[in-house]
Amino acid sequence: MRIVVLVSGTGSNLQAVIDAVASGSLDVEIAAVGADRQGTYGIERSAAAGLETFVVNFKDYPVRADWDAALLDAVAVHQPDYVISSGFMRIVAPSFIDAFAGRYVNTHPALLPAFPGAHGVRDALAYGVKVTGCTVHFADAGVDTGPIIAQTPVAVLDGDTEETLHERIKVAERELLIQVLGELSRA
Ligand code: GRF
Repeated sequence: MRIVVLVSGTGSNLQAVIDAVASGSLDVEIAAVGADRQGTYGIERSAAAGLETFVVNFKDYPVRADWDAALLDAVAVHQPDYVISSGFMRIVAPSFIDAFAGRYVNTHPALLPAFPGAHGVRDALAYGVKVTGCTVHFADAGVDTGPIIAQTPVAVLDGDTEETLHERIKVAERELLIQVLGELSRA
């Protein structure tokens, strides 16, 4: 099963997938890793792992539709079975969703439909929930919407900050993403 992974930042979830593939515990081919901006550690660590990488820099496209088209082309050329958004901080165009209908998988650090959007961890903490978690779902044209594949609960501890809670969620998130990719590769 071929995947393209999209990142916007650190790529620690991506690194967990790279490590699982390298250890032989995940039978997936990472065809390429892409980002929407220059200078991400996610791209840096992918290149260091010998993976093909690309950047479709959002700032290089004054017209949004041109960026959408460039991203779609940059992903499609690798003919992935699935596209994985892991810390990718852009909402892709409906044309992208159409091109990869049912094959665009997103990870989110909250128990959707609760706390969608770019600050799911901060919002859950601010609300005062006692349990949050992470979600892996098929993304549609909305913001963190689409059919849920799997979720893991994560307790909120007294004294948690956004950072300590997010790091604990990301441990569960990495395991969940690898579990889901394993299931998809065996389907
Ligand atoms: C992950 O929790 C992801 O769900 C969220 O941002 C985080 C990205 O972390 N959108 P990393 O880039 O994989 O370290």
